[in-house]
Amino acid sequence: MIFTAIPEDVINEIKYRNEIESTVSQYVNLKRAGKNLVGLCPFHSEKTPSFTVYPESGSFYCFGCGVGGDVFTFTGLLENLDYIESVKLLAERSGVTLPQDGYDDSFQKIKNTVYDINRETARFFHAFLMSENGKWALDYLTGRGLTLKTIKHFGLGAAPDSWNMLIRHLKSKGFSEADMLTANVIGGSKGSYYDRFRKRVMFPIINIRGNVIGFSGRVLPGEDKNTGKYVNTGDTPVYKKSENLFGINFAKSHCAERIILVEGNMDVISLHQAGFCNTVAPLGTAFTSEQANLISRYTKEIVLMLDADAAGQKAIKRASKLLENTGLNVRVVVIPDGKDPDEYIKKNGADKFRALLEGAVSDIEYKLLTAAEGIDINADDGKLRYLSRAAEIIAASDDVMTRDIYIGRMSEKYGVSRTALTAKVDELRRKNDRYQKRQEFANLVKPKSGVGELNPEKRRNLKAAAAEETVIAVLLKHPDFYEKIKDKLPPDKMVTSFNRRIYGIITQAIEEGKEPDISVFAEKLIPAELGFVVSLQNSLKADENPEFVLKDCVKVILEEGNMQKISDGNDSTVEDWAFGLKNLIDKKAKGN
Ligand code: UTP
Ligand code: MN
Repeated sequence: MIFTAIPEDVINEIKYRNEIESTVSQYVNLKRAGKNLVGLCPFHSEKTPSFTVYPESGSFYCFGCGVGGDVFTFTGLLENLDYIESVKLLAERSGVTLPQDGYDDSFQKIKNTVYDINRETARFFHAFLMSENGKWALDYLTGRGLTLKTIKHFGLGAAPDSWNMLIRHLKSKGFSEADMLTANVIGGSKGSYYDRFRKRVMFPIINIRGNVIGFSGRVLPGEDKNTGKYVNTGDTPVYKKSENLFGINFAKSHCAERIILVEGNMDVISLHQAGFCNTVAPLGTAFTSEQANLISRYTKEIVLMLDADAAGQKAIKRASKLLENTGLNVRVVVIPDGKDPDEYIKKNGADKFRALLEGAVSDIEYKLLTAAEGIDINADDGKLRYLSRAAEIIAASDDVMTRDIYIGRMSEKYGVSRTALTAKVDELRRKNDRYQKRQEFANLVKPKSGVGELNPEKRRNLKAAAAEETVIAVLLKHPDFYEKIKDKLPPDKMVTSFNRRIYGIITQAIEEGKEPDISVFAEKLIPAELGFVVSLQNSLKADENPEFVLKDCVKVILEEGNMQKISDGNDSTVEDWAFGLKNLIDKKAKGN
């Protein structure tokens, strides 16, 4: 864990200038609910708002997925930044100058080193591609129709057929093997390191801010495929494949209207070369909700252009589901003859490709088209089956006009009355609505994704944990009461270790004379843990007498702590005992 020591008053100044309400509003549509605000959570997919902003305490919490924190945590989660980076970003946005030194940004330093290694590695691969020895790779790329200009534009390269040329090069530039390992450009361990990419055509992966964050390397056709056609950088301090998109660094300034999503890096490069600079691809993964959110901040419409094979079609359905809640317009192109976009444009040219793009159908239309697969719609029962599938697809749209349009089309095309189809769609919507509500309610009452794991000891110490949580909640609101319980309840008396940690942080802050608001925790806890603290902070009922409640809770914690000591002494728990009993019964049942 890294502890930054940016002076508290500077942090407060930045927070003051970046109110949580207005910062969140830039990304989430918020509605007022009493003194708080609610909206659809940007971190998970939902239809009824459970994402809550508390302007009073400068915090947020999602009752659906359990994440929470302060304005820096929020920005960090959305912009893929760590805590100190978010502080810097918000400082910059609001014109606050940070003191130059005096805070520990060791994680930032590691990231910078990895960026440096990546940049140097990309240079090395590119130089090798352009050298005499890289002719095989250059021939391959030009053979696939790429111009020199494109090759330079994307900074393409080649990894030599060697186990250590990159290591030697990076060493000569002053980088350590440990750092190369962190950047994932080499593999192995002390004494036996090796270049991770060998004899491959190399594609640098560049993030939205223009830093090289990783690589994707392709084997030449006919060469050893045991290691996979493409090998990509694994997750590193600067790269998480589920959060990045190949080509986004160029696409971001060409996609105000729409962005095209394809499957592979070669598709991206070919399309950019043909003038479609608004193309991106996920790298070696299925499209994720992080990527959907990233895209939705740059464009209005996304065109899914995935391969015509079954996997591609499945990916389209998955992606359009993820994209549903981003507010993006989703359209789909199915490329004829089972080709991928790269092959298609090479064979048919840019004009045909543009026509294909213009013929993109809405995602509903796409689903309506594919729903007919395997059904004989000329037979009466087939038609009925198809129409009820169609009704389901239409019912999934939350826009009344959209529904109306497709109801009209379907009734005309299949000779069924508008009234009947509308009735069917409405019925399905009511059902879905009830189902959705039940689901979301179930999510609300069950422990949050993390919380069970956040505090695994809670299950065995329900009473103590509940009291601990109340103590924390009270102190968050009334730090002055700490004086009254300080001697009786030092942190090590807390029964569950998770709450002990939270309590330790809060009491330390109070001792240091700080206001124990959410930012005191922000860089010491992960978002799910922070969410838990925010939910505690807001859990206290107004009419409770804090002093009385505290006294009661301290008593419970101390008692439970003592009980635990006794049972620890016995070295067995209620669960062990129950397990033993069950064994005994089982044995009896088996008759031995
Ligand atoms: P494809 O197999 O469709 O490759 O994988 P492609 O993009 O058409 O590549 P070319 O045209 O043969 O060069 C699509 C994407 O899936 C990822 C890569 O990002 C690739 O671009 N992939 C594929 C991997 O990460 N590893 C693999 O082994 C294969
Ligand atoms: Mn291809």
